[in-house]
Amino acid sequence: MRDEVSVLFTEEQIARRVAELGEEIATAFAGREICVLGLMKGSLVFMADLIRRLPLDLTVHLVRVTSQREQAAGRVLTEIFFSTSVPLEGRDVLLLDDIVDTGITLSYLLAHIHEHGPASLRVCALVDKPEARKIDLNPDWTAFPIHEPLADRFLVGYGLDWMERFRGLPFIGTIPRPR
Ligand code: IMP
Ligand code: MG
Repeated sequence: MRDEVSVLFTEEQIARRVAELGEEIATAFAGREICVLGLMKGSLVFMADLIRRLPLDLTVHLVRVTSQREQAAGRVLTEIFFSTSVPLEGRDVLLLDDIVDTGITLSYLLAHIHEHGPASLRVCALVDKPEARKIDLNPDWTAFPIHEPLADRFLVGYGLDWMERFRGLPFIGTIPRPR
């Protein structure tokens, strides 16, 4: 299966971009302690690399969102699970997302986190597909924006999956969009 994947961003490109983001984010939060909240499971690898490039005092937490799409009713039911009870009130929160596609998952999550009263809430995405957006919402930082016609391929690797596969690839690759 792995040999069906074409490389899009190499390990070296990712490392360089993550280091740049680390500097930008550290500048934005200079002197503050941040709460890094990684969206499971797609942002796990990204989070592991990025936190080691952030010269800031920080704590690390995970959040998981599950969605059940009821096709007929066109309804999306979503549940949010925090890995640990995270005291977000008054904290500077940096949410790490894997891919912002329609923006539905992110908007739901942001609304929920806002209810906890963080002092600030910013978003850093590994990949952004702005052309696919259904909700007008943009991450504060993006490692790799992906534009048409590449949005037609499905991204895998470096934590990103297709049916739970490919997360362990050290690079970001693409496969033909599964039907
Ligand atoms: P949204 O709610 O439509 O923005 O969906 C975002 C979620 O869809 C991401 O967190 C990914 O889990 C998944 N996703 C969207 N596009 C891709 C892709 O190309 N590869 C892997 N997962 C994707
Ligand atoms: Mg996924």
